[in-house]
Amino acid sequence: MLTKVIRGSILHFPNVTYSPGKDFNYIEDGILVTRNGRIVEVAEAKTRLSEYSDAEFHDFSGKLILPGLIDSHLHFPQTEMIASYGEQLLQWLENYTFPTEKKFKSYDYAYAMAEVFIQQLLKNGTTSAMVYSTVHKVATNALFERAQKYNMLMIAGKVCMDRNCPEELQDTPESSQRDSAELIEQWDGKDRLHYALTPRFAPTSSSAQMAALGELAQQYPDVFIQTHLSENTHEIEWVKSLYPGFKHYLDVYDHFHMVRPGAVFGHCLHLEQSEWERIRESGSTIAFCPTSNLFLGSGLFDFDTARQYGVHVSLASDVGAGTSFNMLKTMGEAYKVCQLQKSPLCPFQGLYLMTQGSAASLGLEGSIGNLNPDTDADFIVVDPQFDQLMRLRIDPKESDISSTLFALSMLGDDRAIWSTWIAGKPVFIKEESHNALV
Ligand code: GUN
Ligand code: ZN
Repeated sequence: MLTKVIRGSILHFPNVTYSPGKDFNYIEDGILVTRNGRIVEVAEAKTRLSEYSDAEFHDFSGKLILPGLIDSHLHFPQTEMIASYGEQLLQWLENYTFPTEKKFKSYDYAYAMAEVFIQQLLKNGTTSAMVYSTVHKVATNALFERAQKYNMLMIAGKVCMDRNCPEELQDTPESSQRDSAELIEQWDGKDRLHYALTPRFAPTSSSAQMAALGELAQQYPDVFIQTHLSENTHEIEWVKSLYPGFKHYLDVYDHFHMVRPGAVFGHCLHLEQSEWERIRESGSTIAFCPTSNLFLGSGLFDFDTARQYGVHVSLASDVGAGTSFNMLKTMGEAYKVCQLQKSPLCPFQGLYLMTQGSAASLGLEGSIGNLNPDTDADFIVVDPQFDQLMRLRIDPKESDISSTLFALSMLGDDRAIWSTWIAGKPVFIKEESHNALV
């Protein structure tokens, strides 16, 4: 049984809840102990290091050890079309997204792109993600196979859409139900993989398709669900005309049994009061996608109201409408979105939203999101002083952890990620940190 000891400054949120400025555990000179891919303990180096004299030792003193980051909403086929210029949601889908997603009917193409996608996640310190594939079953298989190779905890699903998109990208109520069921049987619960039923959004699913997926949701009460909700005002008007008689946008998903714990709704920028209430009551989650919401000009997520209602919120990149795979950058943009609404996001809460907060909202805190004993050893080593500017900004003797974390969210990106570990093994090592590890 190989025991590994990783020494550095350790920060995580051991509890599932967060209250401002509290609930975090920070050890300036700590050790993280792993055995067989799981965490044994986190402790002060001075009290516990001597217990592990036989262990494999990795010294990252001066660096920060965090739980692996979680991205709760992004699109793997959109990797190659990230930063496509200047449209709002519906035109952007038509002009860039759908043409790109057509390429994923080829398994070989999807398999190659899935590797690029996962490499991007790992070099940015993201160890778990909730991912949209395309409408193609082969592309979804390719994504799961790649994630399995890295032993990632990944949640993913085949997009379902049977209208209002190019014919080549359409499935049917029957085929979407059959394909999704087959994918659930094949992947859900295999190693660390989970399935998410994935109707793209209400405009691209007929009520017959929604009903077919609703049946599956009832048949598989534990599978995750992911979709988009209330992102763009034109989209909302469109949903009203396509689904007349429903109380509001969320009611469409609710009617078809898709509003429940483990359901993650991307965006939620223009919610009505009763939608907030229903999301809270149902225990479902909102994915806050700041870079995407700014990029497509969709709106500002009202995090204060989310907090008042007590709804689960997780942070997400929403690549490729999102403009970065990097969750530190995403946290920085979330801060600015909150600033524009006169309510800045505290750096601890930002980190919580992409680690333990995400995990807890998905019911996965027993394996990811924190560094508690018996969870999976998914963690990252962060170099806060990765360049001249950061060395100037962060004085190890003066800066407290809150200030370091905030500077990382404003100035950090993949250059700050020293190494990424999944189940106790390094899966990404930054070039200059290579010598320190091997
Ligand atoms: N709504 C429906 N599909 C999409 C998508 O791919 N990206 C975003 N941002 N919103 C959507
Ligand atoms: Zn999205």
